[in-house]
Amino acid sequence: MRSLLNRTLRPDIDGLKKSGTYRTLKTIAGPVDTTVFIDGKEVILLSSNNYLGLTNHPRLKEAATFAVRDYGTGACASRLIAGNLAIHEDLEKRIASFKGSRAAVVFSTGYMANIGLITSLAGEDDLIVSDELNHASIVDGCMLSKAEVKVYPHKNVEELKRLLSQGRSASAQATYRRRVIVTDGVFSMDGDIAPLPEILEVAEEHHSIVIVDDAHATGVLGENGKGTLEHFGLENENIIQIGTFSKALGSLGGYVAGPDVIVEYLKNKARGFIYSTALPPSVCAASIAALDTVEKEPWIRGRLWENVARFKRGLTALGYDIRATQTQIIPIVIGDTSLTMEFAEAIFEEGIYAPGIRPPTVPEGKSRIRATPMASHTDEQIDKALAVFESEGKRLGII
Ligand SMILES: Cc1ncc(COP(=O)(O)O)c(C=O)c1O
Repeated sequence: MRSLLNRTLRPDIDGLKKSGTYRTLKTIAGPVDTTVFIDGKEVILLSSNNYLGLTNHPRLKEAATFAVRDYGTGACASRLIAGNLAIHEDLEKRIASFKGSRAAVVFSTGYMANIGLITSLAGEDDLIVSDELNHASIVDGCMLSKAEVKVYPHKNVEELKRLLSQGRSASAQATYRRRVIVTDGVFSMDGDIAPLPEILEVAEEHHSIVIVDDAHATGVLGENGKGTLEHFGLENENIIQIGTFSKALGSLGGYVAGPDVIVEYLKNKARGFIYSTALPPSVCAASIAALDTVEKEPWIRGRLWENVARFKRGLTALGYDIRATQTQIIPIVIGDTSLTMEFAEAIFEEGIYAPGIRPPTVPEGKSRIRATPMASHTDEQIDKALAVFESEGKRLGII
């Protein structure tokens, strides 16, 4: 007899298979480097968020190793009980100063940072206005918050303004307690940058709090890699910046950086901070070493931008649609989901790993390969990827 779980779950799984949205895992043997072994096959990795290649940097590895020796492998309690190690506070001070903020608090992941921040800041009496292409963790935070959520068309500041100036719907109260604008700094699937200066103007006009998710900008954007604010030459201690150590910084963990009061508030309100075990010390040590590396070795970021430019130039010459990307995230939009998945499989067979991204991660009809060159790729690896994109794109009639 089929088990209860099988009876109730199998039809949903079959539905995913039928709709072409069923997901499977590919197993990487060994470290996340410019080439990896998948199913015994060596392929060029072109889809990691290890943008600066830091996950293999000796400084990070050494820092993590020493931390294991000095502190052991886990914190084994939440920060408010018995898990608050000196290294957590060191990391918070370090990320706050790197981001130009007064204070910071770390969470287990960037996902948890968004959920914790948004659900603490906004509730029933509040309004959140969110860009339509914001990351899933922002969307989930909005849903869980119980606030009224309005979504504005991608980067459309006029519409953002209009939504903020609307009165409160279906409530005895005429105004909201708080208005919160939330946007990715660099959009995770399109690689374009939020119009932060204009958003800040609108926020000022409408007395709104601004949250910028700098997950894909930290370590990468701006002269010193500090992120979206630095990219625009902005200094603003009142903006709340969230981010993650798990992408360009090659480690793990999320952070919220901003004024002292938001950090004090989150330590008291954010359930993901209060009811979850603190990060392992080795992870904090690696993150601190990553920030040191971003500051001490700016050439790594320079190398990333060279690779990005080389790859984008090649793709554009081949006739690919790479949208309006401004960063290291390069969407190669194919549109049709099954053709995108076929193309991803074809380039994998030819030695390039950059999986297809399809709905619900991206909108219907906008399936794509999300390619992300790393600082550590060689020119030869970028050129090999371009050659494969050319041969397979032509074979499948994409270009
Ligand atoms: C924009 C954005 N925010 C937040 C996250 C979540 O970060 P983490 O992977 O550390 O949970 C991601 C990455 O998945 C992201 O792309």
